[in-house]
Amino acid sequence: MKKIELHLHLEGAAPPGFIRGLAAEKGVDLSGIFDARGHYAYSGFDHFLRVYEAATGVLETPRDYARLLAEVLERSAEEGVIYTELFVSPEFCGGGDLAAWRDYLAAMAEVAARMRGQGIDSRGLVTCIRHFGPDRARASARCAAETAGDWITGFGMGGAEAMGRATDFAWSFDCAREAGLGLTCHAGEWGGPDSIRQALSLGVSRLGHGVRAIDDPALIRDLAEAGTVLEVCPGSNIALGIWPDWPAHPIARLAEAGVKVTVSTDDPPFFHTSMRREYDRLAEAFGWGETEFRQINLWAAEAAFCDADTRARLR
Ligand code: ADE
Ligand code: ZN
Repeated sequence: MKKIELHLHLEGAAPPGFIRGLAAEKGVDLSGIFDARGHYAYSGFDHFLRVYEAATGVLETPRDYARLLAEVLERSAEEGVIYTELFVSPEFCGGGDLAAWRDYLAAMAEVAARMRGQGIDSRGLVTCIRHFGPDRARASARCAAETAGDWITGFGMGGAEAMGRATDFAWSFDCAREAGLGLTCHAGEWGGPDSIRQALSLGVSRLGHGVRAIDDPALIRDLAEAGTVLEVCPGSNIALGIWPDWPAHPIARLAEAGVKVTVSTDDPPFFHTSMRREYDRLAEAFGWGETEFRQINLWAAEAAFCDADTRARLR
């Protein structure tokens, strides 16, 4: 089955072996972030973010990011993904400096163009990081606005949802919108309905996760009526302990209530998942088959931050 993925963090998709290889090349000791089997090791979400940022620390140059993107897109293509949107961060790529960001972006866009010829299309969504605060988010938004165009087509926010209010970041979202970028925001992963409503007030068409809307029937109705698309990452939610297992996950209940859900992996090696595994578990837990998977991919095609020709090819 051909798949569309809308929510994949580039650094979070780095295979541990790739990060270990770079660390060895650079003489950096990263042994503390891996378990005995060589997987990323963390306990809880805050620790996950620290391990993620430590792994990201060895990605230092545009060439490192180009190598990473090539590896990630190759793996996605092997999973049957034909189009993917990746969160990329000017914070990690040059510390929010526009000239440096342009160099990283040029290296990544070249890889993306090459991989398009090999059957996997992609777009980059600039992400700011909530726990780094509104000032650093503004620098990311400026980088996004200045480079909006061929490959950069969206803007979003990840990071610790418990830190600050989404509305503290309104300037950055306004700046990105004025540059013509599509908008999405992580909310309703750790935070409840109030956090989701704040994110919606930024004018996003999509939510990263959004699944805790399940606690609020009025919000579910609002999401369904507005056609807000959820970038649901069930394997991530289960690995991080938000729901105990697949049958308990609300994705099927949200879809039955008329909410447009899509399926992504978030940070696949951290959560021991892949797009095939997500689809297999959804089939097992909810009896989903071709009809449901075709529907979620149609919703993903509709919601993708891409041009009309690309969208037509994805449908
Ligand atoms: N960054 C990478 N993965 C994330 C997640 N699941 N939630 C928030 N920020 C993230
Ligand atoms: Zn995410």
